[in-house]
Amino acid sequence: MRLSQRMARLGTETAFEVLVRARALEAKGKSVVHLEIGEPDFDTPAHICDAAVAALASGATHYGPSAGLPELRAAVAEDSTRRRGVRATPEMVVVTPGGKPIMFFAILALVDEGDEVLYPNPGFPIYESMIRYIGGTPVPVRLLEEKGFELDVDQLCGRVSNKTRLIILNYPHNPTGGTIPESGLRAIAAAAAKFGVPVLSDEIYARLLYAGQHTSIAAMPGMEPLAMILDGFSKTYAMTGWRLGYGIMPAPMAQAIAKLQTNATSCSATFSQLAAVEALRGDQSSVDRMVAEFQRRRDVIVNGLRAIPGFECVRPKGAFYVFPNITGTGFSARALADRLLDEAGVACLSGTAFGEFGEGHLRFSYATSMENIDEALKRIKAMVTDA
Ligand SMILES: Cc1ncc(COP(=O)(O)O)c(C=O)c1O
Repeated sequence: MRLSQRMARLGTETAFEVLVRARALEAKGKSVVHLEIGEPDFDTPAHICDAAVAALASGATHYGPSAGLPELRAAVAEDSTRRRGVRATPEMVVVTPGGKPIMFFAILALVDEGDEVLYPNPGFPIYESMIRYIGGTPVPVRLLEEKGFELDVDQLCGRVSNKTRLIILNYPHNPTGGTIPESGLRAIAAAAAKFGVPVLSDEIYARLLYAGQHTSIAAMPGMEPLAMILDGFSKTYAMTGWRLGYGIMPAPMAQAIAKLQTNATSCSATFSQLAAVEALRGDQSSVDRMVAEFQRRRDVIVNGLRAIPGFECVRPKGAFYVFPNITGTGFSARALADRLLDEAGVACLSGTAFGEFGEGHLRFSYATSMENIDEALKRIKAMVTDA
C-alpha cells in the first residue's frame, strides 16, 4: 500500500520505540532498568477502580455523548474553577481518550497550511509531529537551562506575529521538569492577546509540582477567549491505561473539538469516565502521597547524576523527569543513550527525541522504584567511568 505524502511528515514518540528495544533485550535474557517511559509506577487508587467496577455493573458499557458524559464535564468544570482558579462551565469541557487527542484535535481545528505554531523545544515530540503533519510551520522556542529550563519567554514573545496561529505551552514541562513563572505567563498572555493568538496550555503535570502553586495561563487577563487547557487523569491519578483526558476551552471551540471526536473515536469509554468523576471528587490523599514519593526520588536521582563524571543536572520543579546535560562525557546524546541501553542495561531517551535543542542531554523518568533508580545510577556511573 502506498502511504499518503503527508505520512512522511508524521513524527513519533521515541519512548515507545525504546521500550520495544528494551523488551527485545530482556527477551534475550539481559537485565534492563526502565527509565524511558513516562508513567507513574503506582496502581490507580482503589476507590477509583471500585467506581469503575460499579459503573460496569450498572451497565455503563454503551456509547456516550462525543463531548463526554455530563457528570464528568461538570466535575472537570468544578475542579478547574476550584483548583486552577479558571472559571469553567461544563459546555467548555471536552473529554477525550487521553489528553493527547486534545493536542491533535486543537492543531487540526486551528492550523492551516503554512500557519506558524510556536512550541517548546526540547518538548513533547507530538507537538512538532502534528504541526508538520497538518502542514503548519513549526517555530521552536528554546528553554533556558541556566534558568532551570524555563521557557525563553522573550524569544517566544518576539516571535509572535500575524502569521502565528497557535502557541503551545507545557508546564511543568516534559522532558525537563521546568515551569514558567507567573510573570512569564503574563507576558505570553499579553503577546497572545495583542495578536489574538490561541494558546494550547498543556498542564498534564500541573499536580506534579514540588514547590509553589500551579498557575494557569488561562487565569491571566485577556485569556478567556484564547486559552485551551489540556489535562487528564493519566499522570495525576496513575491512570495511563484508562485513556482519559480533557480540554477546557471556549464553548464554541469545545463543540468543534467534539465534532472531531465524533469523526475520530465517537466518544471516550463511559465506565472510565464515571471512574474519573470519583477521581476528581473523591479522596485526593493518594495524589499527595505520590507527589511526595516522586520528590524523594527526584532528589536521589539528581544527586546521583551530579556525582557522575561529565554529567550536570538541573533539579526539576515538576513532572517526573530529569534532563541532565551530558556534554562533559564527550558522547552525543544518541550515542550515549544507545550505549546505556545496549551495554549497561539502562533504558533512557536521547534529548534529541524531544527536538534539535535537546542535543547534549538525556531524559530519565524517575517514575520507578528507588531500587531501580539506585541500580540505574550504579550502571550509568560504571559505564561512563569505564568508557
Ligand atoms: C506533555 C504531555 N502532554 C500530554 C501527554 C498525554 O498523556 P495522556 O494521553 O496519557 O493523557 C503526555 C504523556 O506523556 C505528556 O508528556
